[in-house]
Amino acid sequence: MKYTRVARAALAEKIGTRILVVDPIHPDPAAIAEAASVLQGGGLVAFPTETVYGLGANALDAGAVARIFRAKGRPASDPLIVHIHDRVQLALVAAEVPEVALMLAERFWPGPLTLVLRRAPAIPPGVAAGRPTVAVRMPRHPVALALLAAVGVPIAAPSANRFSRPSPTLASHVLEDLAGQVDLVLDGGPAPIGLESTVLDVTLDPPVVLRPGGVTLEALRAVLPVVTFVPRYLPMEPQESAPAPGMLLRHYSPRAEMMLFSGPAEHAVQAMVATAQRLAAAGRRVGVMAPEQELGAFADLDVLTESLGPRDDPAAIGARLFACMRALDASGVDAILVHAIAPEGLGLAVWDRLFRATEGRVVDTMPLRESNRL
Ligand code: TXA
Ligand code: MG
Repeated sequence: MKYTRVARAALAEKIGTRILVVDPIHPDPAAIAEAASVLQGGGLVAFPTETVYGLGANALDAGAVARIFRAKGRPASDPLIVHIHDRVQLALVAAEVPEVALMLAERFWPGPLTLVLRRAPAIPPGVAAGRPTVAVRMPRHPVALALLAAVGVPIAAPSANRFSRPSPTLASHVLEDLAGQVDLVLDGGPAPIGLESTVLDVTLDPPVVLRPGGVTLEALRAVLPVVTFVPRYLPMEPQESAPAPGMLLRHYSPRAEMMLFSGPAEHAVQAMVATAQRLAAAGRRVGVMAPEQELGAFADLDVLTESLGPRDDPAAIGARLFACMRALDASGVDAILVHAIAPEGLGLAVWDRLFRATEGRVVDTMPLRESNRL
């Protein structure tokens, strides 16, 4: 069933989730203070960050953190990110901050980079799924920073979606998944980047990217050329050993069968049109997700299309990706065909999320010997 924004909000309030609309640049201090008091009382607050909405709890309160796992239906084996306001909190949450972490923090914080560091005793083991490490990030969204400043403790926050749903980039996405499970939602409008942070393990030498995200690999390597990334998502790479937690393949599983087409646009679109025709002929409802310039090819077919945005604007595509997935899933199609952008810059994170959503179902429309474009 579809609800309007107002009806959904009314319903959420009725079942115990309060919603406060805040200005994303200058949030009302009274709203922030209210959210902070919910966190101080052991409650859950969903709030916007520059990447996606987070589902926050006081990171020092094991009971509150346990509520996050219950609300999301998240396995206790998947550790959370701890959000900090400043360097003083960094010293509280991390047992050790290597030189290389300081250098990266200097360059990328506040911002969409998460550093995996050795965990300090102040952080309950449950936050980190019992690991000796903890993932730490200083967000740059004014609402997140204001909330951190007001509450005075680090905030543990995974993305505010139910387990195996796309990350939320709007407050309405949070309510779709978590109404009644979260005490308060700060609605600060769309999350600007729309893709989660880059997770970098700096306890390893050289540091390893566990999840590509809002800070590109290219930007990291400009500061630290030795950073490695095992591109286990890319079709040309053989699957590696046991994945780190951030690398689990099963991530977002739509009801529809999802297929990712790789290759230059002209090849991919041709293959997608042929597949769409075949599926439609078999009576299946088909959805297509692709850059705006490529959708014309589907105009005469009986398919539902979602534009990812202009092909030459990876930031716009990243920002729309999860909302497009949710829209197609909600429309009840049986199959979703996707073409995205090359895995360079932000495109690597886009590729990663799609590869996981399709559980590795990639249709290579051009042999990689002829082209290494994806
Ligand atoms: O942009 C983001 O990172 C958002 C916003 C809310 O900050 N948060 C987010 O959290 O995406 P979550 O829980 O959905 O993803 C956290 C990722 C997971 O892949 C998790 O396995 C990994 O970080 N992670 C957390 N702690 C870790 C640790 N100690 N070692 C390795 N990976 C860790
Ligand atoms: Mg998540």
